[in-house]
Amino acid sequence: MSTARRRLPLLVLAAGIVVVAVVMFTYHPAPVIPRDRDHVAAGLPEGCLLCHGPAGRAPRPDDHPISQACLSCHRWKP
Ligand code: HEC
Ligand code: HEC
Repeated sequence: MSTARRRLPLLVLAAGIVVVAVVMFTYHPAPVIPRDRDHVAAGLPEGCLLCHGPAGRAPRPDDHPISQACLSCHRWKP
């Protein structure tokens, strides 16, 4: 067996480790929704956007996804 062939599994393993490392360092899940009175009372998604819309008191950042389906990304705090 040639040297290149013997090294192939090692290269595949190294590539796998690199992919896992990149995902671990770049993935950040959407923050959970706090269960305080304001949040529990808000109707989705209009109620949320009263505060988190552009004119609200806690607007979402400019790079936030535009989707209004809040719960498809944000979970309630357990
Ligand atoms: C009355 C205003 C108000 C309403 C209504 C409201 N929020 Fe919030 N929300 C805030 C404020 C202020 C904060 C930041 C301070 C805090 O953590 O309580 C916050 C925090 C959050 C966070 C956590 C952010 C972080 O960095 O951890 C998420 C997620 C969130 N809100 C989603 C929602 C969703 C989804 C709804 C609709 C169900 C909603 N909010 C309704 C005012 C509001
Ligand atoms: C497609 C997924 C997705 C959807 C849908 C979504 N969000 Fe988010 N949201 C995120 C992610 C990811 C972050 C974290 C952003 C970051 O850390 O840069 C975030 C962050 C936030 C924050 C915290 C902002 C901050 O300053 O820390 C609030 C508040 C929030 N979202 C509210 C909402 C509300 C309200 C809705 C529905 C109207 C919503 N999100 C829908 C993915 C989503």
